[in-house]
Amino acid sequence: MAIFTSPTSQTILTVTSILILFTFNSLYAKATNPPPSIFKTIYAFGDSYTDTGNTQSETGPSGFMFVSKLPYGRTFFHHPTNRYSDGRLVIDFVAQSLSMPFLAPYLNQKADKSHGMNFAVGGSTAIIHSFFVRNNMTTNITPQSLQTQLGWFNEYLESNGCKDSTTTAKECGAVFNEALIWVGEIGANDYAYSLGSSVPRTQIQQLAINSVTGFLQTLLKKGAKHIVVQGLPPTGCLTLSMYLAPKDDRDDTGCVGSANKQAYSHNTALQAKLNIFRQKYPQSVIVYADYYNAYLSVTKNANKYGFQELYKVCCGYGGGEYNFNLFDACGSPSSSSCADPSQYVNWDGVHLTEAMYQVMADAFVNGTYCHPRFGYLLSKKSQSG
Ligand SMILES: *[C@@H]1O[C@H](CO)[C@@H](O)[C@H](O)[C@H]1NC(C)=O
Ligand SMILES: *[C@@H]1O[C@H](CO)[C@@H](O)[C@H](O)[C@H]1NC(C)=O
Repeated sequence: MAIFTSPTSQTILTVTSILILFTFNSLYAKATNPPPSIFKTIYAFGDSYTDTGNTQSETGPSGFMFVSKLPYGRTFFHHPTNRYSDGRLVIDFVAQSLSMPFLAPYLNQKADKSHGMNFAVGGSTAIIHSFFVRNNMTTNITPQSLQTQLGWFNEYLESNGCKDSTTTAKECGAVFNEALIWVGEIGANDYAYSLGSSVPRTQIQQLAINSVTGFLQTLLKKGAKHIVVQGLPPTGCLTLSMYLAPKDDRDDTGCVGSANKQAYSHNTALQAKLNIFRQKYPQSVIVYADYYNAYLSVTKNANKYGFQELYKVCCGYGGGEYNFNLFDACGSPSSSSCADPSQYVNWDGVHLTEAMYQVMADAFVNGTYCHPRFGYLLSKKSQSG
């Protein structure tokens, strides 16, 4: 006993303990760096706003056929990755803030899919492709719709034994319990492709909303637990809309009034359906990501975010009010891109710069533009497992 009470020994013991603690702590720090992600997988759906590489230039929608060429990708990846931007998209920033790798595009056979998959395809519609064919709206339209993406995901689910959450609860749980389902903006193309057709807008909206809700219902029935559904951005603020619409078609935000009204109405109908799903599937968390208002908040406080150009594109033909011309699209030989993309909201006329996507992702993940908040979804996930 005496030996332990001797001051010298005590000092040695203390020093040893501190060293052990110190070593232990630094080991612990190493093991948790990067911190373990709250989700194992992300499954994403959508169109070019979410597509991380399923589209190649050959299959891209007309006018935006150069996604596989620089300057696409110039800011972050420094080479084209088939993302419609100069760098990362919202889904990339979401993955990063969850300490997860960038999502593998489903169609890339070689990609590591252990952290989930991205089914989004540039040019995709919410409504099934055959509708556009039947109504003579097929010129160069991407054949993949949200139904196609659901078909791909279903194949994957079936290969994992997941049919529905009652007969194959264990198998479906294995896919969905640790998964974030990210439904990117979808539907903007439906309205764009039907411009000039005789099909009424109200019918497009109804069919598009039915498609998205049918899609969500299928996933919820199979046991999807953590879902984020993005609404449409204010499509009237996209350069292409500003460029095409008559000058007197403007609302109090300065953007194309008719297009914004349409997006707003679509979002209202979508949110009403989400409310019904929240009641029907109380065990799932269904978050609405308000792209519309997140985007408008940037147009109202551009300086705060370092944006100098709200409507003029960074990558375009080099002149005019918007630096934009349909026939000299970004990536074409006659186009060029600006010195500092981070000062621009719009990248190529339809798609946004990495800087804008980052602000949007921040607004969803850390800000107040998710309903309920993204943090609520994370806390529900933590509680469940
Ligand atoms: C589509 O085009 C064909 C041939 O021009 C025409 O006969 C048909 O009525 C059109 N359909 C619709 C829905 O406009
Ligand atoms: C959210 O905030 C955290 C902490 O500031 C930051 O690391 C992360 O990048 C942000 N997420 C997004 C998507 O901006």
